[in-house]
Amino acid sequence: MASILNLPPKTNAGLPRVDGPLKVSGVAMYTSDHNLPGMLYAVPVCATIAKGTIATLDVDRAQAMPGVKAVYHRQNLGKIFRTAPSDGLSAYLDERRPPFDDDVIRYYGQYVAAVVANTYEQAVAAANTVKVTYKAEKLDVRRHLETDDKPTVDSHRGNPDEAFQSAPIKVDEIYVTPTETHNPIELHASVAVWDGQNFTLYETTQAVVNHRDVMAQMLGVPSENVRVISRFLGSGFGGKLWPWTHCMIAASAARNLNRPVKLVVTRDMMFQNVGHRPRTQQRIRVGSTPDGKLVSLIHDSLNHTSILDDYSEGCSEATAYSYSTPNLRATSGIVRRNVGTPTSMRGPGAVPGLFALESAIDELAVKLNMDPIKLRLLNEPEKDEGKNLPFSSRHFVECLNTGAEKFGWSRRTPQVGSMKKDGLILGWGVAGCSWIAERMATAASVDLHADGTARVSCATQDIGTGTYTVLAQIVSEKTGIPLEKIEVVLGDTALPPGPISGGSWATASVIPAVVDAIEKAQQTLFMAASQGKDPAFAGQKPEAMAFTNGRIHLKDKSPDTGVLYEQILTDANIRGASGQGKSEGTFGDPNSKHSKHSFGAQFAEVTWEPETARLRVSRVVTVIDAGRILNPKPARNQIEGAVVMGVGMALFEETVYDPRFGAPINNNLADYIVTTNADSPEIDVTFLDYPDMVLNSLGARGVGEIGLAGIAAAIASATYHATGVRVRELPIRIEDLLVRA
Ligand code: MOS
Repeated sequence: MASILNLPPKTNAGLPRVDGPLKVSGVAMYTSDHNLPGMLYAVPVCATIAKGTIATLDVDRAQAMPGVKAVYHRQNLGKIFRTAPSDGLSAYLDERRPPFDDDVIRYYGQYVAAVVANTYEQAVAAANTVKVTYKAEKLDVRRHLETDDKPTVDSHRGNPDEAFQSAPIKVDEIYVTPTETHNPIELHASVAVWDGQNFTLYETTQAVVNHRDVMAQMLGVPSENVRVISRFLGSGFGGKLWPWTHCMIAASAARNLNRPVKLVVTRDMMFQNVGHRPRTQQRIRVGSTPDGKLVSLIHDSLNHTSILDDYSEGCSEATAYSYSTPNLRATSGIVRRNVGTPTSMRGPGAVPGLFALESAIDELAVKLNMDPIKLRLLNEPEKDEGKNLPFSSRHFVECLNTGAEKFGWSRRTPQVGSMKKDGLILGWGVAGCSWIAERMATAASVDLHADGTARVSCATQDIGTGTYTVLAQIVSEKTGIPLEKIEVVLGDTALPPGPISGGSWATASVIPAVVDAIEKAQQTLFMAASQGKDPAFAGQKPEAMAFTNGRIHLKDKSPDTGVLYEQILTDANIRGASGQGKSEGTFGDPNSKHSKHSFGAQFAEVTWEPETARLRVSRVVTVIDAGRILNPKPARNQIEGAVVMGVGMALFEETVYDPRFGAPINNNLADYIVTTNADSPEIDVTFLDYPDMVLNSLGARGVGEIGLAGIAAAIASATYHATGVRVRELPIRIEDLLVRA
């Protein structure tokens, strides 16, 4: 298929978001905006120890407080089941234990009860009176990670140990990334409605279909009796991919009381109960010849997980295919701590993994006295050597070269502290990045109406990334119907089942299904034309017809001889032509013949004032190879947002657990530091725009996560270049740099 865009992508500034006006005018309904007649408010009671058992739970006072309808706990919430085991991502969740399942406390903040009252204030007041005593045990939130368990081998080739031993040049270092908490501005929330037979659940979810399947199983009702709605999200960053225990509390309470129940997870609870990126500790050993050819790469990573769930961060995701080397091993392991269950956070695995790998590559370049770009070019693989498969499309070399050009890399002098500007020391660093490219099976529906409007629908959701816009754009491009006449309906399990908004694969999954649906709707129009009375089509078969820019015409005649499709429908008194489209998934396919990834190069400049130990990221140049870019405006916006998040990863973000009580103590936006506008660098985004025709007929991959990968490594390398201090444990702190200041 030719380009879906009429304009060449590089000159196309892109479409603004079609949902923008709804959001800025306050019309868009987010989950907690739903207020229903008779609605009650649920407020959980959180454990104040991180390990032990509940000794007594006294709810008498709470029960007698004004407005209180119920206080739920293990004895009275009602049966909540576990989900059945399954392969892949069907009815998936990370924290599998149902709420209040036993009296054991395994992390600080674990829900032990929930008060339901007429107003939020009444529920909060009553929740504060619930008296819980505990038999506390010695908790473990130690930062250092160690395990005797045998690690999982994620990838292996050659003889990595021997080759490393005998390598002339070696780097052997440990890199640490901290626990990070997703901080979307919209808090997690559930508004649950029970009508005696069916649940309607308004949820903050990046995956309505999965959410429905999980809730149906856990609530013990058929999945057709559960409808999950999530029209707008104030983002999620992965923290809203899977259901969390507050969802079942709200739904159960709604069923018990036969009243709608709203439960909003407060920001402090968000640091405890709805996932986080786990702490990782990664040893990298990389050996090379004196002229920089890699001879061995060993990547052993550990991450913390909760007591009950085996969450593996997957740090070696990108290790096996990034560089050419005959000898490689990547392993991973988990270490249990008294923390809530970790979960996916933007670029899970690859993002912390590439901080370690790309930092080590930079350290090797320093040892070799070689330019770090040259070192990467020297070790560019011809195929994915981990899977022994060709890449579907890889333009990493061009990312590096284009980025070097835009950044001005040739002016870099490699000596530490050797570059200055306006009285500041400059540091320049570079890192590579990559991210998986996959698709999920998707269905979508398109209706072309007689009044000239269209409707496209799919049970996927827009988490703020531009899904509404790109679907309207595709329908408009393929039908000639103007954007403002196209209604996009998402975020509802009543619609044809669509993919999770995760893995950066929503666009790549939904677009082919929508294109298929459009073509099927056009077939319906051809049949209507064939059966209709218009003399232009008398005696003509549907196969002889074509659809161009809103007109139906005979294939062998020019489009302007055609008839507007609205006319065909109106004449036949048909309200609209529907098409049901679908597209296959690729995720988890063991027979895949290609290694499918996006790539990129990240260039960072820091400024360093040794007198005051002030480090700032001043400039980032990012070059991304993510296939065809369907809408450059939100795509660039994704990369810019990811870079800003990368600055936070490098310099600010860390969830700190109090070693005495196990509580995440910086559990608010004042103490958990994220990048602000004032911290944000100048950002230059370039897309290479090579269609990946292996992934789908449009050649589009995804851009939600790739922009974060590699940023922290580029900043850490730039920091080394400026200061001479190699920081291997994020975030980089002033204290780390004072050594030389
Ligand atoms: Mo993303 S961490 O797959 O929402």
